[in-house]
Amino acid sequence: MKSKIQLICRSVSYLLLISLCLVNQIGKAQDIIIPVETKNNALVLQVTQNKDLSNIYIGKKLGNPAEYANIPGHYKQGTDYSDGTLNSAYSTAGSRNLFEPAVTVTHADGNKSLDLRYVSHKVTRTDNNVSLLSILVKDPVYNFEVVLNYKSYYNEDVIEQWSVITHQEKGNVILHKFASANLYLQSRKYWLTQYHGDWATEMKPEEVQLTHGIKTLDSKLGTRANLFQPSVFMLSLDKPATEDEGTVLYGSVEWSGNFRVDLELDNKDNLRLIAGMNNYASDYTLKPKEVFTTPAFLYTMSDKGKGDASRNLHNWARNYRILDGKGNRLTLLNNWEATYFDFDEPKLFELIKDTKKLGVDLFLLDDGWFANKYPRNGDVTGLGDWGVNKKKLPNGVASLVQEATKNGVKFGIWIEPEMVSPKSELYEKHPDWVVKQPQRPEHYLRNQLVLDLTNPKVQDFVYGIVDDLFTENPDLAYVKWDCNTVVFNAYSAHLKNQSHFYIEYMRGLYQVLERIRAKYPKVPMMLCSGGGGRVDYAALKYFTEFWPSDNTDPLERIFMQWEYSYFYPSVTSSNHVTDWGKQPIKFRTDVAMMGKLGFDIVVSKLSANELKFCQDAIKSYDAVKSVIWQGDLYRLADPRVNSIASLVYIDDKKSTGVMFNYLVSNRYGEGSKLPVRLKGLDPNKTYRIKELNIYPETKTSIDETKSYTGDFLMTVGFNPEVNEKRTSVVLQINEI
Ligand code: DGJ
Repeated sequence: MKSKIQLICRSVSYLLLISLCLVNQIGKAQDIIIPVETKNNALVLQVTQNKDLSNIYIGKKLGNPAEYANIPGHYKQGTDYSDGTLNSAYSTAGSRNLFEPAVTVTHADGNKSLDLRYVSHKVTRTDNNVSLLSILVKDPVYNFEVVLNYKSYYNEDVIEQWSVITHQEKGNVILHKFASANLYLQSRKYWLTQYHGDWATEMKPEEVQLTHGIKTLDSKLGTRANLFQPSVFMLSLDKPATEDEGTVLYGSVEWSGNFRVDLELDNKDNLRLIAGMNNYASDYTLKPKEVFTTPAFLYTMSDKGKGDASRNLHNWARNYRILDGKGNRLTLLNNWEATYFDFDEPKLFELIKDTKKLGVDLFLLDDGWFANKYPRNGDVTGLGDWGVNKKKLPNGVASLVQEATKNGVKFGIWIEPEMVSPKSELYEKHPDWVVKQPQRPEHYLRNQLVLDLTNPKVQDFVYGIVDDLFTENPDLAYVKWDCNTVVFNAYSAHLKNQSHFYIEYMRGLYQVLERIRAKYPKVPMMLCSGGGGRVDYAALKYFTEFWPSDNTDPLERIFMQWEYSYFYPSVTSSNHVTDWGKQPIKFRTDVAMMGKLGFDIVVSKLSANELKFCQDAIKSYDAVKSVIWQGDLYRLADPRVNSIASLVYIDDKKSTGVMFNYLVSNRYGEGSKLPVRLKGLDPNKTYRIKELNIYPETKTSIDETKSYTGDFLMTVGFNPEVNEKRTSVVLQINEI
């Protein structure tokens, strides 16, 4: 029988009441239990008798919240030499803690010890779905405090966690480490899936069982921070989670600069997870009363495998984070690979006509349209000089926008506003705006340097690039924001304290993006970084989509998009059909359709059939794109373990789905030998299956007149008939 108190806990004001109820119920006022509950999970904190704040549980939530208090008693792991701080909610250094700290400081008097004890907590409810738990912890000796914030999204099973650090000591305090979050997981084994890569090889997964000691995922690149390693990861408990089974936590740092995630398996076989900005070269001097807010660490957990966790994250991202996450996106024709830097007004006018002919929404003018003294005719010069190149475009951008409007398409433009070419007027005029060590040789990536966004004048300049473009061309409909260089020789001529550089750079960038979004709230912007060097959930607050990789070979993309899809919904994934790879146009288009479709090809070189195929595919895409962007994604056949890849997007009513199937092996006789079991359908509904994107003069081998129950499709499956003659097959599933 559930007690009255418990029932009240369930129905009203979740978190606060639960915590108060538990204090009363168990009758030990000193052991305050603070659960953060979402639809399926709970993160539970406990205030111990000596006011330590501990993580006592993270996992599937219990039916009776009063039982959270019983959890610690069932872990008999032996003595904690650090006096109960192994599972600290925010581990300190220099006092009892013996493992990796979340926060380290030098106090105003030079002392380096820190101990944080619970003072109070409160819960603020934004609405029925979102709550914020804030816990104040303070050092009993020093006037130094931290507020630990846990923002929970009930239906999405997502938590964002960040810290706010302040002090009122008699001088400055140096923060040496300042994590966003500190979790503590207790399991038999821990399996980490992490990602690595480089230009054109982004998002390569590796899964390992964690051993004792610390595994750190981090970046020190400053700008395109994810080039070698993104902050997204998965952590499976007990055994590696599969698509539909197992307990898995997805984590990610909401920060576009240097990040750091420490995973430390301790002497009790428990895992301390500490995540936030990277403290590398970033000691932060905090003045009395100054507030230091960390970015958030984002995580979701599921005991139903990777697929469920990714759908939770997608829902959260579309509902709460991505700019216009529920909105429309524009299909486009980009000229980068069609022309590179070699174009002029007549050539672009032709491409604008091709945009219309193809049937996409927008023409996107890429790199090379600007700079006069050092024209941007290659990637060595002109970056930073945003005046239109008069030789190529004597009538300015305005005439291109006009031409696009005349042709019934929209116009978008490429910029790379954070960067500068050494050979540019900007560099000549403002050498002090450039990130470089005054006494050392310059070092370049793609022949360019980074502008010093810690400097408010540079922030104004970068904001001005965008603002001027929109002011002069109010009909501008899209911006591709590129970023091709990492930070070498980190030094700012503006900053007094160089240790603040990496943090202030990102803060400067976010300030610029805030200003842009205040004035231009909805204009779609693509976050590009010579590939996926930059995507994260802080940046996606300002961007509608991102560029996963310059590698658009569709075979490669199947694997890459597959991995990105665990963390980012397809509505954010800019996929362009290009000439990369050896696959036919159908295969290329089918793969690009699993996201936001674009083209970067020479339309005039397409054969009549190829053009017809693309035109029809774009029409089909327009009809089903909302299911691809907003539907639930179910991965059906993993290309890493099968000779086919298969996945399906299903709308929330379970009445329409779009299924993508590809042959990923060239071996003899490979294909979909067995039916592919669908997921996410309604077993009681009846569906008919129709093939989309059929190449002109070919026929589908599928019997489109047959109908199947959801039960059949999910139990027996459906064979998309993928083989060496049908290497990519797109199917529409419709309820009848
Ligand atoms: C790198 C991007 O990834 C490409 O798509 C293109 O925009 C070039 N930069 C332009 O320089």
